[in-house]
Amino acid sequence: MAQQILVTGGNGQLGSELRELSALTGDVFTFVDIDTIDLTDRARALAFLEERSPDWIINCAAYTAVDRAEEEPGIAEKVNAGIPAMLAEYGNKSGCRVIHISTDYVFPGDVARPLTEEDPPAPLSAYGTSKRNGETAMLSYKNGMVIRTSWLYSTYGNNFVKSMMRMMDERDELRVVYDQVGTPTYGTDLAGVILRIIEPGAGTYLPGIYHYSNEGIASWYDFAHEIREITQASCRIIPIETEEYPLPARRPAFAVLSKKKIRQQYMLQIPHWKSGLQRCIEKMKR
Ligand SMILES: NC(=O)c1ccc[n+]([C@@H]2O[C@H](COP(=O)([O-])OP(=O)(O)OC[C@H]3O[C@@H](n4cnc5c(N)ncnc54)[C@H](OP(=O)(O)O)[C@@H]3O)[C@@H](O)[C@H]2O)c1
Repeated sequence: MAQQILVTGGNGQLGSELRELSALTGDVFTFVDIDTIDLTDRARALAFLEERSPDWIINCAAYTAVDRAEEEPGIAEKVNAGIPAMLAEYGNKSGCRVIHISTDYVFPGDVARPLTEEDPPAPLSAYGTSKRNGETAMLSYKNGMVIRTSWLYSTYGNNFVKSMMRMMDERDELRVVYDQVGTPTYGTDLAGVILRIIEPGAGTYLPGIYHYSNEGIASWYDFAHEIREITQASCRIIPIETEEYPLPARRPAFAVLSKKKIRQQYMLQIPHWKSGLQRCIEKMKR
């Protein structure tokens, strides 16, 4: 029997990737975003969920303006912690399985080794704090899953890849930090993994916390450099240090996620970040 799946944040990067891939499944998907329902309105949201009664909820709704969150931490908290808390409450009542997306920005990034699900979070920013509070709320529900990802980009929405491509067209030179290290994640690859997790018979659904990004590691400078290589832009990329480009929110210096747990649990072969980037840029050009 077809499963009923509700995707929140359906107009965002990841939500849009899920929408595209969902057409290939036999399940019934409903996509909602803030234009359908503001999920921070707890009473309305709970009534909406009770009426829909999905088998799964994939929560991609989020406040993702990392720097702006420093000025309006209350709004970030309401969205990034309040919505998962409401979904955990609904899950507790209904037994519905909930997959919630979180971030590497929950980590302080002060150790240069891949971070496991057991490593202690200690966010450096208001955004990271709100996302950590969302994780805690979701993990209070026994059927809740948290997938932390990093440096997400897509052909949909606004992201680093699109900004770099635009600026490489407009300028002769770009300065990009090389002392923040992580892994870019192509939204299509993450969406594919989420669909695999919810696929009936794909393996045992094991709630809890998981890390997923593409494989390999990169600095933002490396990421920009590769975008330049693939697009054959002529703009020069100059490596700089974080202190030369101060931003309101502090970011982790090293936040490479260990994917061992999700790889083993769901028997995944995770593509390298350069392969994801190549596919994304090819798709943008089509
Ligand atoms: N982007 C990254 O680099 C990155 C990295 C690591 C983890 N993540 C996490 O990955 C997940 C997906 O990220 P994404 O890049 O796809 O995010 P996104 O493109 O910003 O999409 C989030 C969507 O949620 C919607 N939304 C915001 N507040 C809402 C509310 N109160 N009720 C209902 N919908 C609401 C947004 O609408 P508006 O646009 O109108 O606000 C937007 O359409 C998020 O949990 C994010 O924290 C992202």
